[in-house]
Amino acid sequence: MIQYCGVDFKNPMVIASSPLTSKIEHLVDAEKAGAAAVSTKLTFIKQPFYGKLRMHTYLKNGSIICYDRRNDLDESLKLIDEAKKRTSLKLFANITHDGTDLDGWRLLAQKHEEAGVDLIEANMVCPNVGLSTKNIQGSDAISAHEHGGAVTGQNPERIADIVKVLKDSVKIPVVVKLTPNVADIGVTAKAAEAAGADGVCVAGAQSSLPLVDIYNQGKPQYHLLNGVAHGSLGGPATKLMGFSLVANIAKKAGLPIVGGGGLETWQDSIMMMMWGAQLVTVCTAAMWYGWENISKQVEGMEKYLEKMGYTDYSQITGQSLQYLRSSKDLDAINGWAAVEEEKCIGCGKCEKPAHCNAVTMVNKKAIIDPVKCLGCGICEALCPTKAITMQMA
Ligand SMILES: Cc1cc2nc3c(=O)[nH]c(=O)nc-3n(C[C@H](O)[C@H](O)[C@H](O)COP(=O)(O)O)c2cc1C
Ligand code: SF4
Ligand code: SF4
Repeated sequence: MIQYCGVDFKNPMVIASSPLTSKIEHLVDAEKAGAAAVSTKLTFIKQPFYGKLRMHTYLKNGSIICYDRRNDLDESLKLIDEAKKRTSLKLFANITHDGTDLDGWRLLAQKHEEAGVDLIEANMVCPNVGLSTKNIQGSDAISAHEHGGAVTGQNPERIADIVKVLKDSVKIPVVVKLTPNVADIGVTAKAAEAAGADGVCVAGAQSSLPLVDIYNQGKPQYHLLNGVAHGSLGGPATKLMGFSLVANIAKKAGLPIVGGGGLETWQDSIMMMMWGAQLVTVCTAAMWYGWENISKQVEGMEKYLEKMGYTDYSQITGQSLQYLRSSKDLDAINGWAAVEEEKCIGCGKCEKPAHCNAVTMVNKKAIIDPVKCLGCGICEALCPTKAITMQMA
């Protein structure tokens, strides 16, 4: 059990707002797979344009989404009603308002609270709304869409105004899902905190563009789409960025964090918590590998907790933060790479790094000169037989 913003969660697993959370059948599956909560699909009072699910998938790296169907308010309220009847999931309502007024935010939050959601998740992250217009037309472009999603999350004053209205409108906790497309996530997280937000959600989902077909005049590799807009990246490529964002927020603001981006295994999710997250979100891994991925992650986390003798997930949260310091405060430990001769198969991979002249091949065995070794550790990662380990002096 975990308490997040005063709400009880049976485990840290939240299914991120996405096509996985737009239909009741999926929510039922999410609960069967062991998730504690879902963030329902992004909802507008009335969405500015009706997209269809179109994605660029670059397997083992990431998927980009630049065009998708969101929910109108009435569709979302129906979904919440069904979810309350057919599941016991905790529900975050992922909402955004695509206008300059604040009343739209108030209406969306109040209607979802009345419908019975547990938390409001103010979407200040979606790059398809606002950011894609801004990136293409420049920041002077005048468009109602500039006020939704990620553009909102880039403006600390706007974040504060919206959070204040939301806090004034509902009694349930207000969590802000912030765009990672900012110079310093600590600044926007602190703006949300100062305005009274109860929590913050972030994923390393930088706005991205896809691979292009170099033999077809650079046509982007999106299926069934005639062009491309800046889209949100998900999947493994975002994991390390997610760690950094979560840790920065944990260091700079006091808000409890829902952290995500590229979490594919239970170990990934535990690491995200060690960098400061109380809850974790998953989307792409389940879209690629099915609900089974969620079951495995939940099961793995529970077993880990037991094996390590922790009684509570809160004992894991933030453990790694003690190691986060500025570069000038770090001390390098002297050492070098050492080869276990019997394990070396003479493949020569460790001899390749362009910056290194410490490795030579003698009789099909790698020999490393400890004096020339810079200590970077790349050869250890490259070695297919794990013959290399870094040794302390
Ligand atoms: C197809 C798709 C649709 C998404 N739609 C939403 C959305 O409606 N609202 C939202 O806040 N995030 C949305 N996201 C972002 C995810 O919630 C998540 O934060 C992001 O994908 C990073 O996590 P992951 O690497 O586990 O996918 C979407 C992501 C994908 C792939
Ligand atoms: S640790 Fe880096 S510098 Fe040292 S031998 Fe390996 S690749 Fe070369
Ligand atoms: S990469 Fe490993 S196996 Fe290959 S030569 Fe180097 S030490 Fe030997």
